[in-house]
Amino acid sequence: MSSSASASPPTPLHMIDLIRMKRDGGALNAREISFLVTGAANESIPSDQLAAWLMAAFLRGLSLDETRALTLAMRDSGEKFPPAYLGKTAVDKHSTGGVGDKTSFLVAPLAAACGVAVPMISGRALGHTGGTLDKLEAIPGFRTALTLQEFEAVLMKCGASIISQTKSLVPADRVLYALRDRTGTVESPGLICASILSKKLAAGLDALILDVKTGSGAFLRKPEDSAYLAALMVATAEAAGTRTVALLTDMGQPLGHSAGNWIEVAESVELLRGQRPAQSEDLRELSLILAGWMIHLGGQAATPESGYARAEKALADGSALRAFFAMVEAQGGDVSVFDNPNFHSPGATKIVKAWVSGFIFAMDTTALGWAVQRTGAGREKAGMPVDPHAGIDFHTRCGTHVEKGQPLATLYATNPALLVEPEAILKQAIHFSPTPPQKVPLVNRIFTRESAEAHLRDVVNAASSH
Ligand code: URA
Repeated sequence: MSSSASASPPTPLHMIDLIRMKRDGGALNAREISFLVTGAANESIPSDQLAAWLMAAFLRGLSLDETRALTLAMRDSGEKFPPAYLGKTAVDKHSTGGVGDKTSFLVAPLAAACGVAVPMISGRALGHTGGTLDKLEAIPGFRTALTLQEFEAVLMKCGASIISQTKSLVPADRVLYALRDRTGTVESPGLICASILSKKLAAGLDALILDVKTGSGAFLRKPEDSAYLAALMVATAEAAGTRTVALLTDMGQPLGHSAGNWIEVAESVELLRGQRPAQSEDLRELSLILAGWMIHLGGQAATPESGYARAEKALADGSALRAFFAMVEAQGGDVSVFDNPNFHSPGATKIVKAWVSGFIFAMDTTALGWAVQRTGAGREKAGMPVDPHAGIDFHTRCGTHVEKGQPLATLYATNPALLVEPEAILKQAIHFSPTPPQKVPLVNRIFTRESAEAHLRDVVNAASSH
């Protein structure tokens, strides 16, 4: 080939061609994905075209190569945070999303109290799941939109900081995340993988622990689908140079007793203060397991089990509580509200009582998540404010025996009209039985690089033999 031929400019790309290619089941190459991500980040591609491509990707799926290219392009869509100079190993945790999932408020201070730096870039409510940022903003004054310099200053001072994607940090995810929420395109393994890992890889982590949910409240409910997502994320993050482990954990019912905004932060502080309500035991246990892994991956414990023991000590001696309050204050939050019993002031409250006697057999946790969203704790449209005091407190768990008339849940909203739909959903979503259900383990499976790669090979081989 002549040198003039090899120097000819690449053919221009057009978004309409990329939509049609994906719609017809084709695979985009890295240059095409980079074009799409750049256009999402700088908002030069209109949102109707991005939405059409997201739906095509949702329906057709993304190949392993496309997922990897999308993750890296989204990571590179803005500035990156290099935490090496913090002088500590940087480790984070991210969950694929659930109902009442508030482990971030526990694991970040637990790991920070044990000498690990936790630079956490989080998201807002997505689909039926709550958002870490919306929950933190229920603390008066708490700022999640920090500059990189402010993020670094909080990390240096407190060991942990939780912030949002911004126009400069992973801007492509800021745009695509909000669009997916509005277009019913959340539950896609490739899109979830790229969304989560772009944020985590941009934070320059040394290691990452992923909490991949499975069960009725997960985005991917079936164990085989959530296992695929876990393996996909571990293999993609490892290929990008970040040591990563995923735990497949149960989301067959809300985690802990609360699902909403303020009530979730308050429950977390209850645990950080050493209280142990029976309804929060699963949350406490999962947080200690995840923090144990973070402390181990951060080089502060030889094994995840000894990391768990260190985390338990940080919970008992109050150092994790101090780390959490230090972070809240450093990000502008008013910690005095945690001592004010009148701070939680919803406009309307309703207790829902058991309509029969029996064992709580199963919950449709996704439906419960929508019930929480409709109390006003989540948003119907992008940019809408959320009600910090809205949400649901659950008083029972799967396997508990209840008598007819016993309180099942307390609903909070700004006015009684907003409680009608959540109550109706709740009554459809909680199932009773005369016999107890089988106990489900909190952690189902663990994926490391080797087991993730082996799992993906098996999935690809099984698909090609069909
Ligand atoms: N959390 C994210 O950040 N992105 C997703 O797509 C799902 C959960």
